[in-house]
Amino acid sequence: MHILAIDQGTTSSRAIVFDKDLRVKASAQREFAQHYPRSGWVEHDPADLWDTTLETCQAALEQAGPVAAIGITNQRETLLVWDRETGEPIHRAIVWQDRRTAEICADLKAAGHEPEVTARTGLLLDPYFTATKLGWVLDHVGGARERAERGELAMGTVDCFLIWRLTQGRTHATDATNAARTMLYNIAKGGWDEELCKLFNVPMALLPEVRDCNAEFGETTLFGAPIPILGVAGDQQAATIGQACFEPGMLKSTYGTGCFALMNTGATLVPSQNRLLTTIAYQFDGQVTYALEGAIFVAGAVVQWLRDGLGVIDDAAQTQALAEAADPTQEVIIVPAFTGLGAPYWRPESRGAVFGLSRNSGPAEFARAALESVGFQTRDLAGAMRADWASSGAAPSEGVLRVDGGMSASGFAMQFLADILGAPVDRPHVLETTALGVAWLAGHKAGIMPDAKGFAQSWALERRFEPQMKSATRDARYAAWQRAVQATIAAGD
Ligand code: G3P
Repeated sequence: MHILAIDQGTTSSRAIVFDKDLRVKASAQREFAQHYPRSGWVEHDPADLWDTTLETCQAALEQAGPVAAIGITNQRETLLVWDRETGEPIHRAIVWQDRRTAEICADLKAAGHEPEVTARTGLLLDPYFTATKLGWVLDHVGGARERAERGELAMGTVDCFLIWRLTQGRTHATDATNAARTMLYNIAKGGWDEELCKLFNVPMALLPEVRDCNAEFGETTLFGAPIPILGVAGDQQAATIGQACFEPGMLKSTYGTGCFALMNTGATLVPSQNRLLTTIAYQFDGQVTYALEGAIFVAGAVVQWLRDGLGVIDDAAQTQALAEAADPTQEVIIVPAFTGLGAPYWRPESRGAVFGLSRNSGPAEFARAALESVGFQTRDLAGAMRADWASSGAAPSEGVLRVDGGMSASGFAMQFLADILGAPVDRPHVLETTALGVAWLAGHKAGIMPDAKGFAQSWALERRFEPQMKSATRDARYAAWQRAVQATIAAGD
């Protein structure tokens, strides 16, 4: 029997069918429109999210035949609000990248609320998270607040909206990893936080039930015979599961549009001293496993910029060859703060900068600097993570980084990453780790896939990148990056 994994991402929806040995049997993908109504605003049409999900599921199921269960993974933090009666959204989805509530966050910060919010949620007061987006919808859509208070509306992240639609309104539930990104969920106590709902002015009647990642989320009858939904996790947490990072100290980094690094910290909630996020890695059978997370907003997007912004490449795949041809005597540095800087800097007002240009700097040097910027940013995160991990009193972690996502296919980028980290970088055979994570959750729950130990044993290394750079060179290059970041921040102040 097979499992269907739905991966509803920021730029496309995908459906992948896995067999019981975790091999891909069929897949389908559809991109959809991004809406930018104003500078810094990013929206998705809920009909696009739903239609592309449905179409890709149908296409994958047509190729692979019936499945025993469904797993769902999704872009996190993105908000939807809909009418409980009709199921119709009252506004477009407000996407995680959307910065419209930057001022609200700044005001709450100035009023001294951040330490309390962080203590309860593990997050920082940034527009990235769902709570302030929800407050915005309630304040800007006519009658929304009154209707929410009367219990007529429901809110959810994308997983929750899809579950509602798939079960035709029978299930209004999310999982603990998605709940943990709303800034309304108390990750220490494990429940919606009344005080935070008051702070963000959010009626609790809107909120879904929160379940384990491996809980039952109802059944769908939209594809014929009923299929149960048996696994749900936010995409970065699903990748952590898919990379089998089940032991404390294990670390993965996913390179998509942005880059998200998560380190498993076990049953211990490790507060960050270094401006990282503390979050839920997964929750199985009522047991919470925590993680430290570093979020970088621009990783693969810097290569898109080379293609669409600068026009120096036609195809992302050309970047590596171009980077390899770069003049080794030049040191061009790109700080790709296109939408501000994420962890560990959190400077929404910063914008990108290029350093070290000379008369003969050209496309090759830009390509190399673009790929290297991803390595430098990952080192920022890994350094902060190791420091947090060490200050929690834990044994030093193994230091190996497991990578996945589009850019992990670039040998040049991954070699530089190992060099600048001074630590091995492991690339697995299966790079579809996000979908794999929830396919395994649902498959295990359905009784056709192995337990966590068996699944971890099936994780197979494709290539290990060992650091080759001399440590003096590494230190000098990283120091140059840090100076470039500080200059970028100073320019935005
Ligand atoms: O936190 C945002 C993240 O979940 C988005 O991931 O892969 O859809 O860009 P992705």
